[in-house]
Order: sequence, then C-alpha cells, then structure tokens
Amino acid sequence: MLSFESVGMRYANGTVALDSVSLALPRGQFCVVLGSSGAGKSTLLRMVNGLVRPTSGRVSVQGVPVSPASLARLRPRIGMVHQQFNLVTRASVAANVLSGALPVLPAWRALLMRYPRELRERACALLEEVGLQPEHLHRRVSELSGGQQQRVGLARAFMLNPPLLLADEPVASLDPRISAQVLALMRQQAGERGTTVLCSLHQVELARAYADRIVALRHGRVMFDGPPADFGPAAAAALYAAAPASPAGAPPAPAMPAHSLAPVEQG
Ligand SMILES: Nc1ncnc2c1ncn2[C@@H]1O[C@H](COP(=O)(O)OP(=O)(O)O)[C@@H](O)[C@H]1O
Ligand SMILES: [Mg+2]
Repeated sequence: MLSFESVGMRYANGTVALDSVSLALPRGQFCVVLGSSGAGKSTLLRMVNGLVRPTSGRVSVQGVPVSPASLARLRPRIGMVHQQFNLVTRASVAANVLSGALPVLPAWRALLMRYPRELRERACALLEEVGLQPEHLHRRVSELSGGQQQRVGLARAFMLNPPLLLADEPVASLDPRISAQVLALMRQQAGERGTTVLCSLHQVELARAYADRIVALRHGRVMFDGPPADFGPAAAAALYAAAPASPAGAPPAPAMPAHSLAPVEQG
C-alpha cells in the first residue's frame, strides 16, 4: 500500500539524509520509524506527501508513484499528524477539524467556510471518537491542552478517512503519560478503519508498545526492520550510540560517499 524503492535523498547542501531505503507497508500496518535527531525520519515521511522529492528511487502510494503530477490525486488519501500539531490556534476546534476536508472541497466553499452538512456531522462524530466533548466544538484551539490539541489533529487527519496516515513525531511535544494516551488512540482509530500508519518516534518504549513493525534509521540507513519483540536492548543501544569516535575531533564520516548516490531522477 506504501512502498519505498531504493530511495535516496541528498539535499542541495550535500547532506545525505537517506541512503537506499526500501520498505513496503501492507494495508493496515502500524509501522514506527525510530531514530535519533537527524536520522532521516522527517525526510522519509515528507517524501510520501511530496514535500521532499527523492534524489533517487521511488515512493508509491497504492501503486501510484508520488510525483508532482499525481500529488493532487494522492493528497486526499494521505492524512498527516504533526509534532507541533499545526492547528490554527485562533480558530475553533470545529474549523480545524473541518479543514481536514479541504483537499476535496471546491475553492469557493473553502473560502466561505461553507462545509456541507455531511462533513459537519462527520467532524462532530470524529471529535467524539477522539475523546473530546460537544462543548469543545466552538472553543478556540489555544484554550486546549497539548494532548487535547493533538486529538483535534487526529480528528482532522481522519476527516477524509484516508487509507494512509503519516505522523511525524506526533507525541514529541507531550509528556509521557499523555504521549501514551495519544498513541493508543491513534492506533485504535487506525485499527478500526484499517488505516496504514507510518509514524516516526524517538522513544523506543512507545514504539515497542504500539508498533506492529519497527524500522530503525541511523544516518539515513535502515539498521533494523522487524517486529518490536525482536528490537532488543542491543539494537536500541546501537541506534542511539554516539557516532564512532573520529581522530582528533574530525567530523564524523558521512553515512556514505555522496558520489555513490544515483543521479537525480527527472520526470
Ligand atoms: N532542507 C534541508 N536541507 C539540508 N539538509 C537537511 C534539510 N532537511 C533535513 N536535512 C538534514 O537531513 C538529515 C535528516 O534530517 P531529518 O529527516 O529532519 O531527520 P529526523 O527527522 O530524523 O531528525 C539531517 O542531517 C538534517 O540536518
Ligand atoms: Mg524530524
């Protein structure tokens, strides 16, 4: 349902963020990408909704290669949850949830904020499903706690019932207890709908508790790919170990020589 085929990413400044990553996620899988800061997690997720274009390899959603030409078609099929929630905090909870339907609304409806009744009903139902009360509907998002805000973010992401959900460190701004609650909710909501989830995290414990599959990235390479039960303390230690000491304070070696990347693919 989601596939990465030998995907590489070298940014314009020469940073190699991903090196020949190949993954295939079947429908309904809850896959957690683990890795420390700079490992390439955000780059991997952003390739799926076209915010980053791989410099080699290919990403496909439901068999459709992600490209500028296919993005308009793919966007309604991809929900997104962000670390900083990315809500309009001055707007109401209802307006934020409804905005999840914008990819399929005619521009005039979006401009006038005239949402069809079925979408308004869906927003209300979703808010209830994520554990918010009817009285939250017309509150400003800024009045809610972080955990509640991410529940709004989840409801927005599910507005179009997308077959695929991307979540980039969705609980990194929340305390541990709330993080577990939000992840449990995300997993439950995705499970009920058969949604495929690609979620990045940096907490091993949360990945072990909620993932069907862990993909661990280090310096842009997959260093583990398997069930949580196989991701033991040694793997976790290796994932977060400091870069190997380099002589006389020289910068650590790059993950790979840049010249070994395939040339930029056009088209
Ligand atoms: N727009 C960019 N330009 C140049 N380098 C970038 C850019 N975005 C990310 N990087 C670099 O790519 C690597 C991977 O970054 P990122 O995907 O954000 O990792 P993570 O989300 O795991 O922290 C890092 O070395 C980061 O500095
Ligand atoms: Mg990131």
